[in-house]
Amino acid sequence: MEQLEIQGGHSLKGSIRISGAKNAALPMLAATLLAQGAFRLRDVPCLEDVNIFIRLLEELGFKCKKEETGALLVDSSGLSSHEAPYELVRMMRASVLVLGPLTAGLGRAKVALPGGCAIGARPIDFHLKGLELMGAKLKLREGYVEVRARRLSGARIYFDIPSVTATENLMMAACLASGVTTLENAAREPEVVALGQMLQQMGAHIKGLGSETVKIEGVRQLSPVDWKIIPDRIETGTYLMAVGAAGGKLVLENTVPSHLDAVLEKLKNAGLVIDILDETTIRVKRRGRLKSVDVKTLPYPGFPTDLQAQIMVLMALAGGLSVITETIFENRFMHVAELRRLGADIRIEGRSAIVRGVSSLAGAPVMATDLRASACLVLAGLAAKGKTVVGGLNHLNRGYENMDEKLCSAGAVMKRVKIEETV
Ligand code: UD1
Repeated sequence: MEQLEIQGGHSLKGSIRISGAKNAALPMLAATLLAQGAFRLRDVPCLEDVNIFIRLLEELGFKCKKEETGALLVDSSGLSSHEAPYELVRMMRASVLVLGPLTAGLGRAKVALPGGCAIGARPIDFHLKGLELMGAKLKLREGYVEVRARRLSGARIYFDIPSVTATENLMMAACLASGVTTLENAAREPEVVALGQMLQQMGAHIKGLGSETVKIEGVRQLSPVDWKIIPDRIETGTYLMAVGAAGGKLVLENTVPSHLDAVLEKLKNAGLVIDILDETTIRVKRRGRLKSVDVKTLPYPGFPTDLQAQIMVLMALAGGLSVITETIFENRFMHVAELRRLGADIRIEGRSAIVRGVSSLAGAPVMATDLRASACLVLAGLAAKGKTVVGGLNHLNRGYENMDEKLCSAGAVMKRVKIEETV
């Protein structure tokens, strides 16, 4: 097991290249199930979650190989199984993304039910109802969902809440269905749009990407493509906030500023100086103490839940009182108790955290409970006086490519330390 020892109080300076987006790479890997042949995916981030998805595709009979250029070659021609086993789904909920493509491509899928996770119950009922509406027969047994359909047929599917992976799953399924599928109240996240564009390149007929209504007219066959993963907007937001926590000035390269409108606005209101240098570059600077702002997480284009924990660190140090309201996941305040250990003044009332800014945090050992909580604790460690030791690094490794190396290259002081596992 590893933990991260952070020596706080060093401001940041330099530039950081943003990696390809995890949440775009995973559905794109799932989309390789829709066509037979050789795909080439560029800018796939090197992350635990991506490795798990690759293992899952290999279990299904694929061959995956990293090129010297870093591109990932996925040969889907050996597809021989339709089962996503519990060992892999348990490790990563996004494994359910194979459900739609497997059903559409093979006519059947057997996928373990993911169960709850640290940030809430996170059901998959929208995914299942959508497939049923498209004519699939579903059976739940022994912790698995088994889906069968000779050929899915187009349907009108309305989501009570715009779900990212349900929109992706059903959009992929609809590409090979007969007739037209309409997804209403669909998710509009940039990763959903990017997946749709990849599917269009593969030969799919999709209209309305980025809007609440996405229409897909099924085709008989799709073809493999060479495709580049979009930059990770959550990683970008995290490094913008790292400057908010540590101070200094950073240039973030290979990003898409327009994917972060709500976040940039909020951070400017909090007092960070942010300049868009060009279509792929953002410069961020902290001058003096930040101001408190209220934050409410919402589906895109609102403020992302995946940056809620990180902005809480800034508010914990800002001058004033801030209310942070989480509307997407019911249990996403696990980081609050850890921030309190560092001296933050935070109270939880229902779905809101009331954060009273303090003048400084003090280093202490803390434990990450989920992916974004781990990033939040690293930011807190950058700001805190003295040494902060972050445990639970398996969470950080799932979603941030070389975060410690990137931050150290910009002046942060931290190192990974191996520790003995105790039972
Ligand atoms: C995706 C992202 C995750 C992000 C989340 C919200 C990936 C791989 N993960 O997760 O990083 O935090 O979007 O932006 O892209 N819901 C249901 N039934 C369903 C599906 C969802 O009730 O069948 C609810 C969820 O409990 C939640 C809301 O819908 O309250 C939105 O969740 P959803 O967008 O589905 O999250 P994920 O796709 O799992």
